[in-house]
Amino acid sequence: MQIPAFTELVNRIEDILSESLNGKAHIKVYTENSEKILDEVSIIDHQKFRENLQYDKNELSERFSNPGFICMILYLDEAPTAFDYGYNSSEEATYFSDSSATLIERKKIGRYLGLLELVYLYEKGYTALYFTTEETDESGRPLRQIWENMGYTTVSTSPDGSVDMMLEITKEVVLRQINKTLQA
Ligand SMILES: CC(C)(COP(=O)(O)OP(=O)(O)OC[C@H]1O[C@@H](n2cnc3c(N)ncnc32)[C@H](O)[C@@H]1OP(=O)(O)O)[C@@H](O)C(=O)NCCC(=O)NCCS
Repeated sequence: MQIPAFTELVNRIEDILSESLNGKAHIKVYTENSEKILDEVSIIDHQKFRENLQYDKNELSERFSNPGFICMILYLDEAPTAFDYGYNSSEEATYFSDSSATLIERKKIGRYLGLLELVYLYEKGYTALYFTTEETDESGRPLRQIWENMGYTTVSTSPDGSVDMMLEITKEVVLRQINKTLQA
């Protein structure tokens, strides 16, 4: 099986989500910082993260100005509904997936945005992606377990509950994630 082109996969996932979410799903990919995406991401960020984990617009703007920045936003009937963004990590050809959140949970939005991120990075020649999460958040979401279910690997855990995770980006891994996500 071949890895589909990123743009083709975006269209396919928009169709799947339009059907499952009963609306018009549109995924936009941004690689430049702007007031528009700062507004859209911060509204979702403030709804989905507890106060000490929220980023204000200045912090978001700093992150959105990093090399390799990419942000995907899912719009449902034109309303910003979910995001996934990151940028280059310190090690060459690696990526730091900074944050993702969705207003509508358990509908595979996180899974689909994660897959799109992976295929985008594969096309660009990245070799690994990293991110930091927590064992469990304040609402009881078992975050490490959620990401492990989606195929990510734990690198290390800290006594304060934070967890570093990663995914190697190889053709085999991308194909595995495509199969797992599109068949799930
Ligand atoms: C984490 C988050 C982005 C996941 O997105 P999502 O669209 O709800 O997740 P998906 O529907 O794609 O679920 C993927 C898998 O994760 C697991 N999962 C997701 N939410 C879960 C929950 N609350 N409890 C247990 N498992 C869960 C399941 O295995 C699920 O597969 P299943 O639905 O087939 O059982 C979402 O919960 C969220 O926005 N959380 C608040 C912000 C946040 O914590 N972001 C991540 C910071 S690292």
